[in-house]
Amino acid sequence: MRTIVIGCDNAAVNLKSKLVSFMESKGVNVEDVGCFTPDDSTYYPYIAEKVCNKIIESDYKKHGVLICGTGLGMAITANKFKGIRAGVCHDPYSAERLKLSNNGNVLCMGERVIGEELAKKILWEWLNNEFVDSSSTPKIEAIIEIEDKNQICTMR
Ligand code: RB5
Repeated sequence: MRTIVIGCDNAAVNLKSKLVSFMESKGVNVEDVGCFTPDDSTYYPYIAEKVCNKIIESDYKKHGVLICGTGLGMAITANKFKGIRAGVCHDPYSAERLKLSNNGNVLCMGERVIGEELAKKILWEWLNNEFVDSSSTPKIEAIIEIEDKNQICTMR
């Protein structure tokens, strides 16, 4: 199984440590970039940046898990990086589709939204699916095409 780089902000330290132990107990190689304590106030975008850079440096061989209060800020940030396809999943079906429909290489979840057991199920679903060529392939190519246009949007 591929290496998983995981990170969280201080809203999700507890869930992250549970998910790290869970993955390690299943033999997954995990790289934990922090944060490690609730008093670490590093803004979530900087944690997402660390995880995404590690994925990019591995030539996208590594995948990532990002957890914050809702998962939303992490996903918004991660999707700014070229070649990163991040999605927030709070149910196992979406986690399966994130891999099979979107070839999603970053899974985001919110500690303030779901409990530990559901988070483990979602994570396991995502980890155990691999993207295979399908009718989804041209749609992902369209994402890459749009990304490559690097369009400038002035709307804030
Ligand atoms: C706390 O900073 C909270 O905003 C964060 O954890 C996350 O939910 C943002 O999307």
